[in-house]
Amino acid sequence: MQIDILTLFPGMFQGPFETGIFQRAIGRKLVSVNLHNIRDYTHDKHHTVDDYAYGGGAGMVLKPEPVFEAVASIKSGIHLAEKGGELPVILLTPQGRLFSEEIALKLSRYRHLILICGRYEGVDERVAEHLATDEISIGDYVLGGGELAAMVVVDAVVRLLPGVLGSEASPLDDSHSNWLLEYPQYTRPAAYREWPVPEILLSGDHARIAKWRRQQAIIRTLQRRPELLDKAELTAEERRLVDRLLTAPDNKRI
Ligand code: ADE
Repeated sequence: MQIDILTLFPGMFQGPFETGIFQRAIGRKLVSVNLHNIRDYTHDKHHTVDDYAYGGGAGMVLKPEPVFEAVASIKSGIHLAEKGGELPVILLTPQGRLFSEEIALKLSRYRHLILICGRYEGVDERVAEHLATDEISIGDYVLGGGELAAMVVVDAVVRLLPGVLGSEASPLDDSHSNWLLEYPQYTRPAAYREWPVPEILLSGDHARIAKWRRQQAIIRTLQRRPELLDKAELTAEERRLVDRLLTAPDNKRI
């Protein structure tokens, strides 16, 4: 997968993309990330990227021309063979649709993504209307710019690419991949202070462990994010467990 990121602060990406799974994914050529400084696509002496808002108001607005030019330049560099495929151009903005594991999974199936990081008080609306094919927000809060949001999106997408994580199966167990939060995990020591690891995990009985984990995931989801359970695929027995928990006087204790 190729990911092109348009930003006014390429330096912000240095740490995250040089560590952990990124380093491995980039090293194995599973993904290539290209950073483009929007300022490099200006033509005036001062490399102006922002301007006052029409109609007044505090704060500056990111100009459209350098953003359009940067995307055009990236697109012109694409090999003919790739040209047929869809190329999402994603604007990171608090006004976008809320990012989720489901969106990450869909994005992970493209060969190429372009991400545009907004800054200042906003981005000229013509970018959203005539250049971006999608607008994504990572949560209901306002960041200083789209950079951290782009990192979140890229992180969530890259770890889903085949071969990036050690085991192919592992992303499927994660919280949110099946609309359930993940079951609790333990490692050695088996007893730490006065808190032992649940005995079942030491039993070696893989079928019982799998069932326990699934139940724990359901209980945890019910306690912390009950709205997710509406989307989870539960067996009839699991639905009965949920009903039992819902009528229990204190379902935190179960
Ligand atoms: N830019 C500023 N805030 C943002 C958010 N919550 N999500 C995506 N991009 C942003």
